[in-house]
Amino acid sequence: MLTARDIYKGFDSVGVLKGISMTVNKGEVVALIGPSGSGKSTFLRCVNQLERIDQGEIMLDDEVMCKTENGVLTYSDEKVLRLITLRMGMVFQSFNLFPHMSVMQNLIDAPIRVKKLTKADATKKAKELLQKVGLSEKADQYPFQLSGGQAQRVAIARALCMDPEILCFDEPTSALDPELTQEVLAVMRDLAAERMTMMVVTHEMSFARDVADRVVFMEGGQIVEEGAPEVLFSSQNPRTRKFIGGI
Ligand SMILES: Nc1ncnc2c1ncn2[C@@H]1O[C@H](COP(=O)(O)OP(=O)(O)OP(=O)(O)O)[C@@H](O)[C@H]1O
Ligand SMILES: [Mg+2]
Repeated sequence: MLTARDIYKGFDSVGVLKGISMTVNKGEVVALIGPSGSGKSTFLRCVNQLERIDQGEIMLDDEVMCKTENGVLTYSDEKVLRLITLRMGMVFQSFNLFPHMSVMQNLIDAPIRVKKLTKADATKKAKELLQKVGLSEKADQYPFQLSGGQAQRVAIARALCMDPEILCFDEPTSALDPELTQEVLAVMRDLAAERMTMMVVTHEMSFARDVADRVVFMEGGQIVEEGAPEVLFSSQNPRTRKFIGGI
């Protein structure tokens, strides 16, 4: 479903992504692991069009976000990029809820503005998704009234309100206590069980091991190794072993 080929990206001429190629198939959960600074967030941000790449190709099914021919990178026109954006969702470490909006307003804002749903339809859907993440009673609260775990579950529900075909997570539990981490991971496990396509940057090795179909280990802007969890976690590659051993 998602194809990234030979992605290069630098900041101020410092290379951060150095030839990353990755696919995520429909219904698959891919965990992206690696040391701090290895380019995991940058890769996710490029895929979600929050950053532009320098070279390479990104496609969502047949829809081309950008491609490189004869060394020349071109991005598709705004209309195509918008269509692709609409098919993807992103959940951040820091929740990124709108602080001045209630939980319900956070959930229905984009569906109404962007997807042109009626308020009634958007609200109905938002209620279903709040129930799914176990927060029906929080609809009228504001983000500051929520625990971190609740805020992150709202952020997941908000992303789901847009019906994404693929959901990307950037360390969704890193800001949370172990207990709150578990309630967010439980929601993600449910999504995985429903075959939601997901790409998850995570330090939660137990999640990667138990839930991911495939684990990708990144270091220094390159993919060192990838494979099924049982393969990757018993890897003989010294770099992989060093990273996994250190966690
Ligand atoms: N906007 C930016 N401007 C300049 N450099 C950046 C920018 N964003 C990221 N970088 C650099 O790119 C490198 C990779 O950063 P990135 O955030 O992608 O790593 P990461 O693997 O997500 O790390 P972490 O596990 O700490 O989140 C780092 O050296 C970082 O300093
Ligand atoms: Mg990061």
